[in-house]
Amino acid sequence: MVTVGIAGASGYAGGELLRLLLQHPEVEVQKVTSKQYAGDYVFSAHPNLKGLTDLTFSAESPEEVAARVDLLFMAVPHGSSAAVTPGIVEQGTRVIDLSADFRLHNPEDYPTWYGWDHPAPDLLEKFVYGLPELHREEIRNTRNVAVPGCLASSSIYSLAPLAKAGLIKGSVLVDGKIGSSGSGNKASAATHFSERYNSVRIYSPTGHRHIGEIEQELSLVAGTPVSATMSAHSVNMVRGILTTSSVFTDGQIEDRTLWKAYRSMYRDEKFVRFMMNKDGTYRYPDPKLVVGSNFVDLGFVMDQHVNRIVAIGAIDNLIKGTAGNAIQSMNIMMGFRENEALMAAPMRLV
Ligand SMILES: NC(=O)c1ccc[n+]([C@@H]2O[C@H](COP(=O)([O-])OP(=O)(O)OC[C@H]3O[C@@H](n4cnc5c(N)ncnc54)[C@H](OP(=O)(O)O)[C@@H]3O)[C@@H](O)[C@H]2O)c1
Repeated sequence: MVTVGIAGASGYAGGELLRLLLQHPEVEVQKVTSKQYAGDYVFSAHPNLKGLTDLTFSAESPEEVAARVDLLFMAVPHGSSAAVTPGIVEQGTRVIDLSADFRLHNPEDYPTWYGWDHPAPDLLEKFVYGLPELHREEIRNTRNVAVPGCLASSSIYSLAPLAKAGLIKGSVLVDGKIGSSGSGNKASAATHFSERYNSVRIYSPTGHRHIGEIEQELSLVAGTPVSATMSAHSVNMVRGILTTSSVFTDGQIEDRTLWKAYRSMYRDEKFVRFMMNKDGTYRYPDPKLVVGSNFVDLGFVMDQHVNRIVAIGAIDNLIKGTAGNAIQSMNIMMGFRENEALMAAPMRLV
């Protein structure tokens, strides 16, 4: 049995980690931290977990919790993890960080994408980028994982086969759509129901922070620098992400070449599904069909008019986009069955 703690457990990502880990036969969740809910039962922040656990929130610091568990999940806002995680890694506790603070390998990328200098640049090389399907062996051999961003995950899953096949020549262009839970549990004027409901709002036409990790990962897979750009929209969903990406090519690429690229990368992957149906309502990936699950649904189409490959990805931002990949990485790192606690089927109607 592995003992784990969750820092930031009152948040949306922390709540999903808890919900999934409570079903994990090899894991005991020993400590969950929250300042707002210190001393309260977990169900006070996560009413869906009522009757499933007697845990109460603790006001202890992540360092104090880390001293008592085998593995600590950091589910805190980006910027706040980098302040304490170096000390925890030093203590020797395994860390799976859900924030952005250890995703980028090059310290110079932090001022570019996050606007601050990294306080522990030497530690970046000790973290593996936790996209299990791309970095399984590195995850197996590390003690520290940086869980990818949610829009980045959907983009990278759908574009990596094209990068590997050498089909990305210029820049890739990502159109991302995300539900409200992607921005966490802190309310703002922009997230007020009256303002958000029924809106499709482009909140980041250029310069989205996840571009840094998309470029990092696609360049690694391609073996040559790949540049990316993304426009991100908040849409009328609570959970879910859809990314529609464009890769412009020199000429026509045959369907069988595309199938070969995608199959050779994901043939044996349990959590990757191809959603490519000739007819029916759901011909391409749709977040509605992955919500509640650790699946990533992928699709691709060749646009013959302008020689453009359209690569589509759909995930649940809180599962394959964060807590699910965190647990999948833990399973690999600890030698558990990779799909332990992650095999729930998607909801049919959300
Ligand atoms: N939401 C998503 O879809 C998603 C996807 C991918 C990655 N992530 C990443 O996962 C992390 C958590 O995201 P979230 O959506 O769960 O956010 P959230 O709902 O805002 O929850 C974060 C929790 O962290 C605690 N916290 C806030 N400020 C803190 C600080 N300075 N130091 C320590 N704890 C602090 C808060 O709990 P108390 O105030 O009660 O202590 C809060 O409930 C973030 O880094 C986010 O970027 C989220």
